[in-house]
Amino acid sequence: MSSEPGATSPGSAGTSGQGRSLTWRDVEGDTRRHADELICTEAEAAALRALRTATEEIDGDMERHTVRQFLIAERLADTGGVACDRELLLCASFLHDAGLYGPASTGDVYIKDSARYARRTLEPFRWPEERLRLCLDACEQHHAFTTRWSMGNEVELVRRSDLVEVIPELMRFGIPRAWLKLELWHAVPRAGFWPATWDVLRAHWRRMLPGMFRPPSAQRSARIEP
Ligand SMILES: [Fe+2]
Repeated sequence: MSSEPGATSPGSAGTSGQGRSLTWRDVEGDTRRHADELICTEAEAAALRALRTATEEIDGDMERHTVRQFLIAERLADTGGVACDRELLLCASFLHDAGLYGPASTGDVYIKDSARYARRTLEPFRWPEERLRLCLDACEQHHAFTTRWSMGNEVELVRRSDLVEVIPELMRFGIPRAWLKLELWHAVPRAGFWPATWDVLRAHWRRMLPGMFRPPSAQRSARIEP
């Protein structure tokens, strides 16, 4: 069940119908897109299943948020010439907010619970510890105030893409507003994003705010156990 960095299985389940997985370049406003179209590997499928278990819904507001956030991250990497491990980036994208939800929560700050849940989900795939830690760091550091390139490209890509997804009026890192508005937000609808975010914030603010306003330092976090 192990998989190597960047491993893909072209033509596996969940392709976009073109013999490969969906990429940001395939996004067009008149074609609705779904998370399943991004899946190439067993680890990615497990991460998506774990997100759906946590949120108890399929194609819900959080799932669509993670799909848009991943596609933005992929575009940032592609247009910026940033090397990245696609499988790791997709798993981190699916799971970075999962700690908000009951099945993934231990009651700790949610970004730490997201990282714990990612470890539980991905450990069966026997990734090298350093690679797994990079994925957990991408979850735990996604509210960092400053850049995290030093921790790994995927860590910074998740941080930047989440900012573009949540506050595109303020932070876009070169992503064209027209692409967001005319293509991405139609292909993976953003409607309901703010009401859903408000509901989550109301329910979980005690575990959210410390991670948002006192995010962890750029040092690798202490080993996160399930
Ligand atoms: Fe997010």
